[in-house]
Order: sequence, then C-alpha cells, then structure tokens
Amino acid sequence: MEKLRLGVLISGRGSNLQALIDATSDPAYPAEIVLVIANRADAGGLARAKAASIPTLVIPHGQFSDREAFDMALDEALHAAGVDLVCLAGFMRLLTETFAERWRDRLVNIHPSLLPAFKGLDAHAQALAAGVRISGCTVHFVRPAMDAGPIIVQAAVPVMTGDDESSLSARILEAEHLCYPLAVRLIAEGRVQVVGDQAGIAGAATASKPLINPRA
Ligand code: GRF
Repeated sequence: MEKLRLGVLISGRGSNLQALIDATSDPAYPAEIVLVIANRADAGGLARAKAASIPTLVIPHGQFSDREAFDMALDEALHAAGVDLVCLAGFMRLLTETFAERWRDRLVNIHPSLLPAFKGLDAHAQALAAGVRISGCTVHFVRPAMDAGPIIVQAAVPVMTGDDESSLSARILEAEHLCYPLAVRLIAEGRVQVVGDQAGIAGAATASKPLINPRA
C-alpha cells in the first residue's frame, strides 16, 4: 500500500518530529516523512531530519513581505514534495486562513493541553494558574482560528503538586510523543472522518478507566 506522505513544519527542537521519525522507521507504519520545513535556520529539529536522511528546507519567514507570501512559499514547497498531510510540530507561526483552507483536513497540529482549554502559547502556565489536576495534549485538524479544529487524539496527564512549567511540560511531552504518531497512523489508515466540527475514529478501542488525580 502507498504510504501517506508527510510534510513536517518545525521552529524548534523537534522532539515531536523525532517521535514521527521513530514511528516511520517501522516498515509497517503507513506514513513516511518526505519533507521537513523550518522557518528558522537554527531549529534543532533540522539536525534530526538530516540524521534520518529526510530532505529539509529552511524558509525564513522574515524574508517575506507578509504572511500570505510566506504561506504561499510553504504551500509551493509542500506541493512540490507531493505532501499529503502537513504536520505542525512546534511550528511557531500562525498560518493564514488561505493556507488553512487550502489544506483543510490535511493539516494537523499538536498542542500541550486538553483543548479547548488553554489555547495559545503558554498552555502549561495557564494550566498551572488554573489549578487543574489533569491537563494533557491534543492532536487536531487545523482550522483558521488558533488551536481550533476537529480533535483526533487526546491524552490526559496528571498535574503534580509542586509542578512548574518545566516539569509539567516534560510530563506532557512524553504523552505528545505517543499521541502524534498514533493520530497520523489513524489518518493514514483512513480511519478518521471529519464531519462538521468533529472527527470520528473508526474501529479504535477507547480508554475505559477514568484518570483520577489526586488519589486518596
Ligand atoms: C510541543 O509542546 C507542542 O505541543 C507545541 O510545541 C512544542 C514543540 O516541541 N506545539 P518539539 O519542538 O516538538 O520538541
């Protein structure tokens, strides 16, 4: 069977990119990464892609007159590489509505909270400030509004007494590295159907136990 061709967009260290690289190294995994694009030449994830012999491209956003022009360059590069699904993995640029619509239901993101809670840049700080006992991460299809769109996979992660942003983000990141490859696999297997604002998942087992925090 033809593999789903992934384009991964990064701005930083690329640990989620690494999780996808590791997943795709299994010959049975139904997707392959055909291009990694960074908007910064110093994105640490570029080295991860190179180490895995994946083609990389740096498209510095500062060289474009506006967001539309930058997104057009992204779009062209993704099309030229024959990308089927775009995965945002710590990509720190807001995409235009034009781009989001052009890649509608073929564009996914990972966010370190249980959306729709704690959208935006400082999700961990927001979770700590709100005093939630459980946070987590979400893989979702991208819609023009920030951190919005049909949810594919979520993981619940406990917030511990004494957590700071760094300890909470490290715990959530472990879950992210499981969720992103899973979400991409479900899409690649054709098991994700978007209807309106929701994504239905065919033939997946569901978690059966509540995560309760704290325990007595
Ligand atoms: C992750 O926490 C992801 O949820 C958020 O940005 C971070 C990227 O980390 N969107 P990495 O570059 O994948 O390590």
